[in-house]
Amino acid sequence: MAKRIDVSGLTAYYSAHKAIEDISMTVEPRSVTAFIGPSGCGKSTFLRTLNRMHEVTPGGRVEGKVLLDDEDLYGHGIDPVSVRREVGMVFQRPNPFPTMSIFDNVAAGLRLNGSYKKTELQDVVEKSLKGANLWNEVKDRLNKPGSGLSGGQQQRLCIARAIAVEPNVLLMDEPCSALDPISTLAIEDLIGELKERFTIVIVTHNMQQAARVSDRTAFFNLSAVGQPGKLIEIDDTERIFSNPSVQATEDYISGRFG
Ligand SMILES: Nc1ncnc2c1ncn2[C@@H]1O[C@H](COP(=O)(O)OP(=O)(O)OP(=O)(O)O)[C@@H](O)[C@H]1O
Ligand SMILES: [Mg+2]
Repeated sequence: MAKRIDVSGLTAYYSAHKAIEDISMTVEPRSVTAFIGPSGCGKSTFLRTLNRMHEVTPGGRVEGKVLLDDEDLYGHGIDPVSVRREVGMVFQRPNPFPTMSIFDNVAAGLRLNGSYKKTELQDVVEKSLKGANLWNEVKDRLNKPGSGLSGGQQQRLCIARAIAVEPNVLLMDEPCSALDPISTLAIEDLIGELKERFTIVIVTHNMQQAARVSDRTAFFNLSAVGQPGKLIEIDDTERIFSNPSVQATEDYISGRFG
């Protein structure tokens, strides 16, 4: 069966600095994969190579291959904009468009993609807000600015915006790190629901969160400051948290690190 994501020999640079080296992994459709590892080991960098956001950073460059459903994302003639439509992203800090209404925030990606009838837009916005478990909280104030929501609501708004364009894959870089425990649990529940439709990759520093939400866990590490980050191991989450193959993984998840 085709893997949804199949990465081989991926190395990424910021100008001359090699941030991550020789990473290979596969991701199954409709699964949640968690990336864990110490600060600076390249989790965010690697995540951004999966939807060609890395190259947006000046000096950002990639070697190796990323296949999405057997198609090379870095192949000739591939449009990075269409890649980012297939592989959506949610960031650490909720970043709704501040002057736009809640409705327009969710509709923004769709409007970029083409023309929709008003009723079609309304349907997709409602469906996406329901999908992000936000509909009941905002249905009476869709025309109010997105920036007027709480942090946890803003993050769910950003998830609604990301899923509105029906991506295949959703990348989330520490989506809960700015949220209180209740909003965090709401997002975690949502991830459990979303994985029935999407393939999710999430970076987290919260070990309980990785254990709760993911099917597979990838541990990244670097041998010394300034050295490139590497993938140490990837396995079923249950195994990583009970009986990992590599000592460094065990040390990291049990807090005996550094
Ligand atoms: N825009 C940038 N320009 C230059 N170097 C960068 C840039 N962003 C990240 N780096 C470097 O790349 C390496 C990996 O950084 P990255 O942000 O991917 O790590 P991370 O694992 O996500 O860390 P954290 O857990 O702190 O978010 C680090 O050495 C970092 O300094
Ligand atoms: Mg990061």
